[in-house]
Amino acid sequence: MYCGQSKKRVKSYMGNLAINGGKPVREKPWPLHTTIGKEELDAVTRVIEGKNLSLYEGNYFADEPFSFLGGPYVNALEKKWADYYGIKHAVAVNSATSGLYAAIGALGIGPGDEVIVSPYTMSASATCALVYNAIPVFADIEPDMFNLDPKSIEERISERTKAIVVIHIMGHPADMDSIMEIAKKHDIAVVEDCAQAHDAVYKGRKVGTIGDIGVFSLNVNKTIEVGEGGVLTTNDDDLALRLQLIRNHGEVVVDQMEYQDLNNMIGYNYRMCEVEASMAIEQLKKLKDFNSVRRELADYLNKELSRFDGITVPKEKEECTHVYYVYGMKFDEEKVGVSRDVFCKALCAEGIPVFQGYMKPLYLQELYQKRIGYGGKGCPFQCHHYDGEVSYEKGICPVAEKMYEKQYFGFEYLKAPNTLEDMKDVVMAFKKVFSNLSELKEKNND
Ligand SMILES: Cc1ncc(COP(=O)(O)O)c(C=O)c1O
Repeated sequence: MYCGQSKKRVKSYMGNLAINGGKPVREKPWPLHTTIGKEELDAVTRVIEGKNLSLYEGNYFADEPFSFLGGPYVNALEKKWADYYGIKHAVAVNSATSGLYAAIGALGIGPGDEVIVSPYTMSASATCALVYNAIPVFADIEPDMFNLDPKSIEERISERTKAIVVIHIMGHPADMDSIMEIAKKHDIAVVEDCAQAHDAVYKGRKVGTIGDIGVFSLNVNKTIEVGEGGVLTTNDDDLALRLQLIRNHGEVVVDQMEYQDLNNMIGYNYRMCEVEASMAIEQLKKLKDFNSVRRELADYLNKELSRFDGITVPKEKEECTHVYYVYGMKFDEEKVGVSRDVFCKALCAEGIPVFQGYMKPLYLQELYQKRIGYGGKGCPFQCHHYDGEVSYEKGICPVAEKMYEKQYFGFEYLKAPNTLEDMKDVVMAFKKVFSNLSELKEKNND
């Protein structure tokens, strides 16, 4: 029973569960999330009318706007991003995936090296090691925050460890003090994957400014959206230069610059174009507003949903600001009496699109299970430069596995154009499902 309501009252407004043919709480579709407005349209129009859609050239020392370092909108975005984040350098790229790859390249990581990463994330957080022939080593997550557990990181450190990729998953900062302390102790680099955490704050510092390199995504689903895009942040001059070189076929200019450190100077095309940069400049101006909508809706859900026994709403650690890229919850099957999956199916039937599990822990995916890698010869897993023995066995990260299999479920619509009215439907659906658990328990036994 929900919050001491009488059976009578529940009956009066609760029909049969939609999963059993009853009328759903919500029939209205969830609106498409877009934060693109007139400002972005005008900015893109200016770029298109100016006819210079992308402005990079192969001369490092050329004057703007035709420079190896990109055109005026890319440069302006980088300047504004660096100012906003209070960091020395921002480097715009065409996705966070490219950004993660460039980060591992810039750090000089290569064959035989290991990179510690969470398995509970999007694939690119780990493949960034593989593309430089390094080995991802998976550490477990904290049971309550879904972020890397520093204790597990410490257990995975070896003499081959060169970096930790920390993901501020769902929009909540990872435990950066502990992670930075481990990194310092073992002299290893920290890359912060902030794809889901624009403007999240850890003890007064924005995520992406604490480790060696921060990586942001600007893809269509992210809090700042430009279609596809990414931004890197760093306070280190040499890393910034190396990121710029990797972004734009670095090898074509290292001669003119007399650049000496050729490790990983095999360039890619990770360039952001002027159109994306012009939109990102407008989106950055609105970032605070975007997050305040998310936080307002999350506050409401936290208050309402924490009343249900068996549901753990997202936590916000002391001195941290959660930006709720995803509203991630934990489910206790024993308390509720049905499985998470049956419960989620019931909510979906009520018109609330929740999803279960988030990511299958990465090491359980085929890439790691089969270890085919490059060229069909098992490289880098079986590369002669690698003298470690990495395990991708089931059971290596029990918390992440349990989260995926039984506990985690999330909701992604706490963002504009949704409002508190839409969140009321979510709460109503939870009430209805909780009030009809006996009906659902039969389903659980099917
Ligand atoms: C945690 C995380 N890292 C990296 C990425 C990759 O971002 P992009 O699509 O910009 O390459 C994503 C995107 O979903 C992500 O969620």
